[in-house]
Amino acid sequence: VIRIVFLGDIVAKPGRKALHKFIPKIKEDYKPDFIIANGENASGGLGITPSVVDELLFYGIDFITTGNHIWKHKEINDYLDNKSNKIIRPINYPISKSFTTPGVGFSKIDHNKYNILVINVLGRTFTQEVDCPFSKIEHFMENVDRDKYKIILVDFHAETSSEKVAMGWFLNGKVSAVVGTHTHVQTADERILDKGTAYISDLGMCGSMDTVIGVDRDIIIKKFLTCRPISFKYPEINLGVNGVVIDIDEDTGIAKYIKRINIREN
Ligand SMILES: [Fe+2]
Ligand SMILES: [Fe+2]
Repeated sequence: VIRIVFLGDIVAKPGRKALHKFIPKIKEDYKPDFIIANGENASGGLGITPSVVDELLFYGIDFITTGNHIWKHKEINDYLDNKSNKIIRPINYPISKSFTTPGVGFSKIDHNKYNILVINVLGRTFTQEVDCPFSKIEHFMENVDRDKYKIILVDFHAETSSEKVAMGWFLNGKVSAVVGTHTHVQTADERILDKGTAYISDLGMCGSMDTVIGVDRDIIIKKFLTCRPISFKYPEINLGVNGVVIDIDEDTGIAKYIKRINIREN
């Protein structure tokens, strides 16, 4: 059995501080073989820079998925293309003859004795009109060497629970785990679907838990009351980490266990 810890969106500096603080505890409590996290908000609340990738790896994260905010910092484009095999972007950004998209949407990872395939895919409902996440992943899966890659993890970065639940059932029995990211609010629906796929609609976030999804709550309340733009702040109030621990049978790729992680200062 391989034990995976998958953590939700790391939000700004408090998110990085929360990892620095709590990853030793996660390692002690869960003894994971592989720690993966969504880093799309890790730099200043939106996007991620190469130096922050390095910082997260230093804290003990083994691999980073992302989402719709991946393009915020331009330095990451070149990094996604050439300089890192530790970070991916959603697989269903369009590729045309006129324009390409930096990076890749999947990674075949050789981690200790395990071969792990990680796929990142972006939902379309209330996010962005990228290529169809369902057909994109279906086509991709047709060419996966299933004898070599039995442990397959999918980060479905999407807004609505219906789109996420649908993806869980769509990939049931085809991958080891489908975990949702993007909303920053952890859901209580983690379970193993009937064909052996671990599922949760959203992992939650890493950062300041007594905020509005990582952002200063007074600022966000003012934004709702005024309907005018306002600059965000990411204060440090009650650091925490959200995610799941998943056990997967490495011989079959079938998930055996999934449980929420919700650690916070208070
Ligand atoms: Fe996010
Ligand atoms: Fe997002």
